[in-house]
Amino acid sequence: MPQVTFTDSSGAETVIAANVGDSVMETAVRNGITGIVAECGGSLSCATCHVFVREDQLASLAPMEEMEDEMLWGTSVDRQDNSRLSCQLRIDEGSDLHVTLPETQV
Ligand code: FES
Repeated sequence: MPQVTFTDSSGAETVIAANVGDSVMETAVRNGITGIVAECGGSLSCATCHVFVREDQLASLAPMEEMEDEMLWGTSVDRQDNSRLSCQLRIDEGSDLHVTLPETQV
């Protein structure tokens, strides 16, 4: 089963079994990961689902669309080269994603 490992800003890790087709944001919200706010529910208009993806996994993700790239300039904690919006990251069969949460989303 695919899984997502969330590391909070204090370094604590939570591993969640994920459903194929869900987004990383949906996986977080359904499982009570508090570091993801997701105010807009995944409609790409809030940037409160910001995560930092483990560097060696970036290339395996679907490329960022222009709108996500623009929204990432509005995150509460400054974007980094490995920033993504978790509502745009889909889980597939082989997913074993590792993401770190910023200190705050708002
Ligand atoms: Fe709002 Fe991702 S949940 S942009």
